[in-house]
Amino acid sequence: MTDSLAIHELGQRAQAMLDDLAAITDEPGRITRLYLSPAHRRAADLVARWMAERGLGVSEDALGTVRGFRAPDETGPQANRRLLIGSHIDTVIDAGRYDGNLGVVAGLLAAEELNARGVKLPFGLEVLAFGDEEGVRFPTALSSSAALAGNYRGEWLDMADRNGVKLRDALVGFGGDPARIREATVPPGAVIGYLELHIEQGPVLEHQGEPLGVVTSIAGQARFRIAITGEAGHAGTVPMSLRRDAFAALAELATVIERFAREGTANLVATIGRVDVKPGAINVIPAEVEATLDIRAGSDAPRLAAIERIRHEADLIANRRGVKIRFERFLDVPTCPMDAGLQDALAAAVASLGENTRRLPSGAGHDAMAMARSFPSAMLFVRSRAGISHNPAEFTGVNDLGLAVEAMIRVVLGLARRHGAAA
Ligand code: GLV
Ligand code: MN
Ligand code: MN
Repeated sequence: MTDSLAIHELGQRAQAMLDDLAAITDEPGRITRLYLSPAHRRAADLVARWMAERGLGVSEDALGTVRGFRAPDETGPQANRRLLIGSHIDTVIDAGRYDGNLGVVAGLLAAEELNARGVKLPFGLEVLAFGDEEGVRFPTALSSSAALAGNYRGEWLDMADRNGVKLRDALVGFGGDPARIREATVPPGAVIGYLELHIEQGPVLEHQGEPLGVVTSIAGQARFRIAITGEAGHAGTVPMSLRRDAFAALAELATVIERFAREGTANLVATIGRVDVKPGAINVIPAEVEATLDIRAGSDAPRLAAIERIRHEADLIANRRGVKIRFERFLDVPTCPMDAGLQDALAAAVASLGENTRRLPSGAGHDAMAMARSFPSAMLFVRSRAGISHNPAEFTGVNDLGLAVEAMIRVVLGLARRHGAAA
């Protein structure tokens, strides 16, 4: 299975599955599939059906992660261990069709091809479709992968979405079970490793003219809710010098944050992605603003230093403007190196396809960050057109999809050889 026709055909199968998933949305006309939404339910059901059709043992854990297990083919010393392959099926609002979904489709196609090629594995293989990677609906992120890795935090269940729906209640509505979260955990000793294929979501591979890249580390990130309280007033009568305008305070803070990020090192980036202004009327001075801040860097020190600077500057702005500014940190994940041995295994698979084995860091967050806390974890990137992601224009060509899926199949074969199978 090395010829380009076969690669193309594999890519077409991946594309067809991605298209089927892309049709499942909470918002007709665009792809929006938030954690525990009706569209997430339908996507999870489709993935479960695909798993069953490929002969996998299907289950859904307490957090809604769909899991498909291929039993080991041998009874040797690795038979009680498993290799995990997966990614997420939740999306951002108005998403593209590749982010997350490709990693799940790759796991399914790998399982299908292993069977079709008569491969015998000394370990189990489990395909995972996580549900809470994007962190768009609830102020959590990576929570379903954190549960599998044994790091779920009970207080996440009490977090609410913008409509006041608690995660706990949404989970029950989805068919999950908050009382059984511990059962979702896989003990580290039972895991060979976790592998995730993902679109790059950046321009590096395209710029280099290379389809595939092995991820070295994932940028650390922190997420905050910023709440600013000022005072409502008449837009026509209150002189500028007497206002306590919550939105003007945020605007000033936003430019400071942008400047700090531009001055920062290690690819420091900071984004205010959502702003709610209250009362939200054209002729009323804003009394309250709630905003989100997402801040990341390739190493932890510049990110933590920037956060300190931002908070200090916020205090100065608050004093000067007579408003209150509160920060609530709801996510803090350190920079996460990928497992060296699994990186090499991925690089060998890429090299066997005759492609360059570029190594590159990830600026985006991934389930692999949560998984790496408990299991050796590594990621393969496939080139994204123009580096565009979190956007319906997200695109990866069929041939690249085929190459990426074939590389994932080959890394499984390589690990099977390393762990003593005839494969
Ligand atoms: C997930 O896509 C993230 O990096 O925000
Ligand atoms: Mn993703
Ligand atoms: Mn994403």
